[in-house]
Amino acid sequence: AGPVEVDVSKLAVGDMMTVQWRGRPIWIIHRSKEELATLPKMVPQLVDPYSHEPQQPPEMSNLHLQEGIRAVNPEYLVLVGICTHLGCIPSYMPEPGSLDARWPGGFLCPCHGSRYDLSGRVLANYPAPLNLPVPPYYFETDTLIKIG
Ligand code: FES
Repeated sequence: AGPVEVDVSKLAVGDMMTVQWRGRPIWIIHRSKEELATLPKMVPQLVDPYSHEPQQPPEMSNLHLQEGIRAVNPEYLVLVGICTHLGCIPSYMPEPGSLDARWPGGFLCPCHGSRYDLSGRVLANYPAPLNLPVPPYYFETDTLIKIG
């Protein structure tokens, strides 16, 4: 299977959609400004806050990695939705406080409890070792993403 085109024009702020690419679930999340504002605050809790591990395409902007955005367009997060521990599919838990009082929203793996923030960066002290991967993609238009 080749690249996959995804129209995100109807994806509301805060919502997530899943498409398949090369047999893998690819998530697209439309992040709000409030959600983006949580990213710098997560740094002390993260294993690899600045994405030094090669879990994203090499051409991704260094500035966006430094800022924890991990996306071409900060509003739209695109991730491979497979836990880097043993391959389960994490759940989207965007509501702040839904896991514990400090939880700013993110992803929870149902298998062994690994947590990822709203950029797919893994939290320390859980079994998953790496951030969720970012697949190769680009924007054909403002709201049409080509993955692969
Ligand atoms: Fe996700 Fe183990 S597979 S925490």
